[in-house]
Amino acid sequence: MCGVSRKRCNEGAAARRERCFFMSIESENRCVSVSVEGARGRRVRSMEDGFVSEVLALRERGDWRQVVDKYHDHPQRNKLLWVFPSPENFKFLHETMRRLACDKILSVGCGSGLLEWLIMESTGLDVVGVEVEGAWWGSRHAPPALAPRLLTDADSARRAPRVRRLLQESAATAILFCYFINGPAFTSYMAEFAGSVAVIVGPGPGKGVHADPKPFDELGRDWNLFDSQEVRRSNDHIAIYVKRTAAS
Ligand SMILES: C[S@@+](CC[C@H](N)C(=O)[O-])C[C@H]1O[C@@H](n2cnc3c(N)ncnc32)[C@H](O)[C@@H]1O
Repeated sequence: MCGVSRKRCNEGAAARRERCFFMSIESENRCVSVSVEGARGRRVRSMEDGFVSEVLALRERGDWRQVVDKYHDHPQRNKLLWVFPSPENFKFLHETMRRLACDKILSVGCGSGLLEWLIMESTGLDVVGVEVEGAWWGSRHAPPALAPRLLTDADSARRAPRVRRLLQESAATAILFCYFINGPAFTSYMAEFAGSVAVIVGPGPGKGVHADPKPFDELGRDWNLFDSQEVRRSNDHIAIYVKRTAAS
C-alpha cells in the first residue's frame, strides 16, 4: 500500500475511499499512484515554487476549502488547474451526479489531478484521472500528481486496458473533461464511453481561451444539455450532458 493510503487510512470516510481507490489503482500495472514520499521528493525540487508547495501542504492537511478560497484567482493557478470551482459549484456537481445516479467520475486529461482531488474531498464521489503517458505531467520537472492517475497512450488504438475497461464498465460513471484541448481524442473517448453522463468544464462564449470541447459545444445528436453552472463569475462553466437512450 502506498504512503498516502497508509497515512490517511485512519482519517475517516474520505480517507477510506482514497485507500480503496489507491488499492485498486495499484493492482493495475499500467497505472501510477503517488505516495507521500513521492510527492515530498518532487516538492523539494520545486521548493522555490511557493504556490505549488502551498497547495501541496494544504492537500496533505486535507484542506480543500482553503485551496479553492485562497487560490482561485492566483496568477499561477494554471500550473496546477485551469478552473477552481467554489464550494457551491462542487455542491451543484454533487447534487447533479446524485440526480443522475452517478457515484464515479472518469476525468480525462486530468493534468495535475488537483480538480480530481478537490472533487473527491468535497463530494465523496470516486474520481479516476486519465493522462497521456510521457506527457509533461509524468516528467520529473512537473508538479507531483495530486490524485491517482491512470496513464495511457495518446493513440486510442493503444489505450491502456484499464482505461478501456473504465470507459466500458460505466453504468454509474460520468466522464469529465476539464479544459480538454484535443477534439479528435475527445471524439474517440466519447465513442468508446458506454455511460450516459458527460461533464464538460471550460470557457464560455467570448472568453477567448482555447478548449476543445467547450462546455456548450454540440456533443452529438444523442447528447442533451441537462444542467449547467458558471464557475464563480469567471465565464468558465460546468455543463452536464445526458445521453438519450432508445427508451427516452
Ligand atoms: C489544458 S490541460 C488541462 C488539464 C486539467 N484538466 C486542468 O484543467 O488543469 C489538457 C490536458 O489534456 C491532456 N490530454 C491531451 N490529449 C489527451 C488524451 N488523448 N488522453 C488523455 N489526456 C489527454 C494533456 O496532456 C493535458 O494535461
